[in-house]
Amino acid sequence: MTQEYAISQYHDTNKVYEQLNNLISQPIRHVKREKMAEYLRYFDDNCKRSKELTDEAKKYIPGGVQHNLAFNYPFPIAIEKTDGAFLWDADGNQYIDFLQAGGPTVLGSNYAPVREKVFEMLQHCGPVTGLFHEYELKLAQLVNHYMPAIEMFRMLGSGTESVMAAIRAARAFTKKKYVIKVGGAYHGWSDPMVYGLHVPGTGRLDATGIPRGSSAATEEFFPNSLASLKRHLIFNRIRGGTAAVIVEPLGPESGTRPVPFDFNQKVRELCDEFGALLIFDEVVTGFRVGLGGAQGYFGVKPDLTVFGKCITGGYPMAGGVGGRAEVIMRFAAGIGGIGERAYIGGTLSANPLSCVAGYYSLLEMERTDDPVIAGRAGDRLTKGLQEIISKYNLPFVAYNQGSIVHLETSGVMLLDLRNPIRLAKELKPRKHMIEEMGAAYMSQGLITLAGSRMYTSMADTDEVIDDALNKFETVLAACA
Ligand SMILES: Cc1ncc(COP(=O)(O)O)c(C=O)c1O
Repeated sequence: MTQEYAISQYHDTNKVYEQLNNLISQPIRHVKREKMAEYLRYFDDNCKRSKELTDEAKKYIPGGVQHNLAFNYPFPIAIEKTDGAFLWDADGNQYIDFLQAGGPTVLGSNYAPVREKVFEMLQHCGPVTGLFHEYELKLAQLVNHYMPAIEMFRMLGSGTESVMAAIRAARAFTKKKYVIKVGGAYHGWSDPMVYGLHVPGTGRLDATGIPRGSSAATEEFFPNSLASLKRHLIFNRIRGGTAAVIVEPLGPESGTRPVPFDFNQKVRELCDEFGALLIFDEVVTGFRVGLGGAQGYFGVKPDLTVFGKCITGGYPMAGGVGGRAEVIMRFAAGIGGIGERAYIGGTLSANPLSCVAGYYSLLEMERTDDPVIAGRAGDRLTKGLQEIISKYNLPFVAYNQGSIVHLETSGVMLLDLRNPIRLAKELKPRKHMIEEMGAAYMSQGLITLAGSRMYTSMADTDEVIDDALNKFETVLAACA
């Protein structure tokens, strides 16, 4: 049988947690100090233009950078050119791009066949009209073709907006109140979702500037604890009900806290038992795991699905929400009486540029078998990292879900509020360690996501991955 999804073999989830728990039970194994000083010197010696630009930017832009994933240790790097597997900074240094802007560029950076279609659109229609364009239809049909659960679809500006819309539609449809998320999961930065961010159990810890009422109907359950989810569902029954449960199907933070294979099916059953809608946040997994998404891979049908990133192949206004027609119909103008409609909008939503980029990105992904090829690159990278880890007898953990590769060296993501003393003591140093790892990798020509995650793309040939492994080895050997 030909492989349809990026994941060639699902990880042994218990084994991954065993290794992660082992990592977190040990003292931090950071890069040796003299080596780290050498890695940091790279930035002073080779990234002078980046420093100049981002120092100046600090006068006009808070913190100097605007993307949460942009490294700022020791200082941010200004990127000038991208192509396929590579990025080049303002000083001309070349890097292998495992950040991929957080996930959308699974075809590789600045992929020419899609760029040409975008140019064509710009030349004859421009980026926006505010009216209907045929590519809206073409994209919605294509999404429905790959994911039949998406009976109807609305394009929006971002994953954040699309999560907001999904929650609104779920409440409008079920007439229920609560939304339950997994502790630690990131679903964008809307008021109700800045709750239990990154560290499970932290509730409103990050909710600076957000009124209490905005997240009063948001709840979190401990990752992978179906018993905890069920307790919330039971309790909510007598106080307004649960409108929706929202999960990232691979687990929070692109599977950084991985889920057992049958987890999503069990959440589905609980949603059905309690009359809550199941929302899959496929902002990362949508099309990266395969054209059928994580829902196709796991064989679980959500009521609503949230898209972002790959839905426009890395072009702007990457967001969308789709699912059961009777729920998504709540977004239509002019339906029902007052209060029936779930209000959403957006000046640039569903513009022709985003739609044409999304449409051809998905077609190219299908034509080239891109998710599977990117997944193979992820497998090769993971296997190589595991070999390096065992060669140097390190407690680090590497595992992947296809083209999403995790390299845990500090275990910071495993800290939680069940052990508040350890959390208070270790959060900062373990966070700083991955900051250092990110900088160390970058000094060797590797750009990762926060020093602990790598997205691979179709452009990552065996040669690129083997070169990357040599560079990783240089840094990891310095931790031994
Ligand atoms: C799982 C998940 N949901 C939602 C979002 C928010 O999407 P956006 O950044 O497009 O608002 C992200 C962004 O990284 C994400 O990873």
